[in-house]
Amino acid sequence: MSLPQVDVLFRPFRLKSLELKNRVVMAPMTRTFSPEGVPGDNVSAYYRRRAEGDVGLILSEGTVIDRPSSRNHPAIPFFHGDAALAGWKSVIDGVHAAGGKMGPQIWHTGSTVAGAKDWEQPEPIDSPSGLLAPNKPRGTAMSDEAIADTIAAFGRAAADAKRLGFDTVEIHGAHGYLIDQFFWAGTNERTDMFGGATLKERSRFAAEVVKAVRAAVGPDFPVILRVSQWKQQDYTARLAETPDAMTDWLLPLVEAGADLLHCSQRRFWEPEFPEIDGEEGLNFAGWAKKLTGAPTISVGSVGLSGDFLGAFKGQASERTDIGQLLRRMEREEFDLIAVGRSLITDPQWVAKIRTGDLEGLRNFDAASLGELV
Ligand SMILES: Cc1cc2nc3c(=O)[nH]c(=O)nc-3n(C[C@H](O)[C@H](O)[C@H](O)COP(=O)(O)O)c2cc1C
Repeated sequence: MSLPQVDVLFRPFRLKSLELKNRVVMAPMTRTFSPEGVPGDNVSAYYRRRAEGDVGLILSEGTVIDRPSSRNHPAIPFFHGDAALAGWKSVIDGVHAAGGKMGPQIWHTGSTVAGAKDWEQPEPIDSPSGLLAPNKPRGTAMSDEAIADTIAAFGRAAADAKRLGFDTVEIHGAHGYLIDQFFWAGTNERTDMFGGATLKERSRFAAEVVKAVRAAVGPDFPVILRVSQWKQQDYTARLAETPDAMTDWLLPLVEAGADLLHCSQRRFWEPEFPEIDGEEGLNFAGWAKKLTGAPTISVGSVGLSGDFLGAFKGQASERTDIGQLLRRMEREEFDLIAVGRSLITDPQWVAKIRTGDLEGLRNFDAASLGELV
């Protein structure tokens, strides 16, 4: 691998009260190392190592709001309750001590399937219409009261993030979990104000969550919203088939108070609408930025040859060069880039890129999911 000019990744970034020293974000990644929902010293040390390794902004693993069935695994951390919040306080203090910045990713897993043996998810399992996927029943269609309680719980989690000293907060609206289940016609058959034939109508729930979060943190605290076209229930699903539909989906969310859109795709180099701007065209984050005017984060297989779904099947992935990423950052297609698996394997990944230690970069080995390196 030849030595690329990486300066474009190491420009500072500023958004409201958030000042980052570079453009690299640690992608939110569930690690299930928080028994009873409480992140311990091992989790604190894991995040601190990424701050020491020069990551500009760390997003936590998904951490769940205060609803009975907001998580689908017993070792996913809570973002509510004294014990869990004390754990998160120690996480953010450690990251700050190492010169890093961080936000929790606040989450509700909706009616996705529970991922642990011998563990029962508490009832009721929240979902828009009692569906996991088209024609696949799971969960209970949420009552008006359940919806109001869930929106309020997102707001409380955001208030706690700010109170504990986090620098930002990310709302998980992607990948087929609760918020995305409202976006998706395949799981949202509601006929009330949270459903409807258009994406704009089905974005109403997310907009209410964003508004509650904004009200909880005030005007100057940056709010990130993560969205995806794909769902774990259907990797080929697309919410927005056209730029107009994407505008209908995302613009109301920016208007509701999302400052930064985190546009999740599996391979950042794939064009979102190649029929419009060709095979080298803008990716999802590029289009989202162009259509809404909001800054965006891109993500997906940075520095690696295979996408992350293989990781769950135990597949390794080889390191690759980042020339294509640098070219896209130079043309300001998106503002920040999130990196997932490369940072699971190697807390020093960013520092190695910065200093040109390309020989020191590692391949991704799925075995590293079994421990907090
Ligand atoms: C082990 C693992 C856990 C993940 N957990 C989450 C999560 O909690 N929230 C989320 O939004 N995305 C999650 N993702 C997706 C990542 O944030 C990221 O989008 C994906 O890994 C692609 O980036 P990469 O190719 O650099 O790994 C997870 C990915 C992995 C590998």
